[in-house]
Amino acid sequence: RERKETENFEKLSSDASSLGYKIIAVSAYRDYDYQNELFNYYTKEKGLEYALNCSAKPGFSEHQTGLAIDVEGRNNDYDNFEDTADFKWMRENAHKYGFILRYPKNKENITGFKYEPWHYRYVGVEVATYIYENNITFEEYKKK
Ligand code: DAL
Ligand code: ZN
Repeated sequence: RERKETENFEKLSSDASSLGYKIIAVSAYRDYDYQNELFNYYTKEKGLEYALNCSAKPGFSEHQTGLAIDVEGRNNDYDNFEDTADFKWMRENAHKYGFILRYPKNKENITGFKYEPWHYRYVGVEVATYIYENNITFEEYKKK
């Protein structure tokens, strides 16, 4: 049986497509070695402080759990996903499929990571809807 997050993401992506939007997965499950590679890459290119702000340390990424997913829209550029109508649709509908925007804008001090318009995490429809409607982070939800 397929995992619920996979099933729901596939539904999200195909519903988006039927409505004229494009939401495709570009990075979902990452193993320790790959996360390590990414973290080392950012550290080498941009320094440790930058790396810590945009990449989880190996062993600590939600991508390693299989619950997180990075997406792209019609511009095929996750860095500029925010500029697309696809992002707007995703922002307004992801919770209906159980996904939350995991690292929102202006919440860096709470999440520990810079704004990532492309990164979503599966938490189930009920929790995702609560988080979306109350405009809070997963950290704030867990503390409540
Ligand atoms: N970019 C996110 C924070 C990660 O590496 O899991
Ligand atoms: Zn991600």
